[in-house]
Amino acid sequence: MKIPRQPDALLAIAQEYGTPTYVYEEAVLRERCKQLTSHFEGLPVKMLYAMKANYQPALLNIIKEEGIGLDTVSPAELSLALKLGFKPENILFSANYSEDWELDYAVAKGVAINIGEPGKLQSFGKKYPGSKVWLRINPHNGAGHHEYVITAGDKTKFGIPVFALEDVKETCEQYNLEVVGLHQHIGSGVIDAKMMQESVQMLLDIVPHFPHIKALNFGGGLGIPYHEKDHPYNFEESKKSFIPILEKWLSEQEKEYTLYFEPGRFPVAECGTLLVNVTGVKHGERRIFAGTNSGQNHLIRPMLYGAHHEIFNLSNPDGVLHRYDITGNICESGDRFASERKVQHIRENDILAIMDGGAYGMAMASLYNLRALPAEILLKSDGTTQVIRPRKTPDELADELLETCGM
Ligand code: LLP
Repeated sequence: MKIPRQPDALLAIAQEYGTPTYVYEEAVLRERCKQLTSHFEGLPVKMLYAMKANYQPALLNIIKEEGIGLDTVSPAELSLALKLGFKPENILFSANYSEDWELDYAVAKGVAINIGEPGKLQSFGKKYPGSKVWLRINPHNGAGHHEYVITAGDKTKFGIPVFALEDVKETCEQYNLEVVGLHQHIGSGVIDAKMMQESVQMLLDIVPHFPHIKALNFGGGLGIPYHEKDHPYNFEESKKSFIPILEKWLSEQEKEYTLYFEPGRFPVAECGTLLVNVTGVKHGERRIFAGTNSGQNHLIRPMLYGAHHEIFNLSNPDGVLHRYDITGNICESGDRFASERKVQHIRENDILAIMDGGAYGMAMASLYNLRALPAEILLKSDGTTQVIRPRKTPDELADELLETCGM
């Protein structure tokens, strides 16, 4: 069983601010950011954070302080990034199947634009002839923790297929588009750095087709150890696999290039913990159910991908282990954080820590059953806490809905 780094502080936060609550540990976030930036030291690397993983503004500010830019995938993400003071030159706009107005928006903001559909490149070229553009390539072989998050290969909607490159070159010539960047992302939750080797080489092989390229973006995808038995992302392996390929390639070039990476999960996942309250313990015929005041509406990863998040009973850390189905309060049978999971003896009103929820937790949360989103608390490096998003009351939620609907 994984043990939270600061169990007492988490329990105190649950007591002070109530639950459900996401807590983000600043120290962990900074540590992960530094791990990323220091790993590529010596290489001309620009690090971006894929803000889709968690766009909580307080976290984005910390990430900015750590010298990391942003990968954005929608106009609102881009708007938020700029409002927070990220510079346009440190932002990439990488929406897929975007509408024309979305690209207009990104052009107006002066950020780099990455296009992954040949048809979209056509319409972009027609409207903005002579402009600079990045191309998202589909690098044949994907990887990821679940089929839904594999973003390369012939079954995915992402990126320009290699066979379409000649047509794409023609489009670029037709509209005088300067391809200044190439991009790829093989998938999400990849622990084995060797998986990158092939796609890195493939992107490098495409460079000679486009004389204006200055930037190569190898995407994100770095996994984290969700399960106590999982290995952390093996940075040493990347030094043995794709980094030497990049170093050799760079040394053979006459021009200078900037290499980009854009992880989302890696910097934020482990800093986040979802705190929930046990609202009932029921002995069924075969299973013991521990129901909580949260659920799939706040952390959908277990339901959607069968993802594993470690669960620790903060109120009874030394309790005897029993097996529980830990569920939410949403009206669906799949609303479950874990099945037959060993957790320290659970009693009503215990506080459970659902760990490693900083990535794709709050960002994928919904108002299903019209239950409020969790509060968000920043646990700062100096031990103090700050409410970075309060929880709405039921009346506030209802009023907000009625007002939005003009009623
Ligand atoms: N770049 C692109 C183009 C992406 O599509 C993604 C993630 C990333 C970067 C960041 O990938 P990361 O470093 O976070 O693996 N909801 C899923 C993950 C979906 C990832 C979508 N794209 C989950 O909870 O596992």
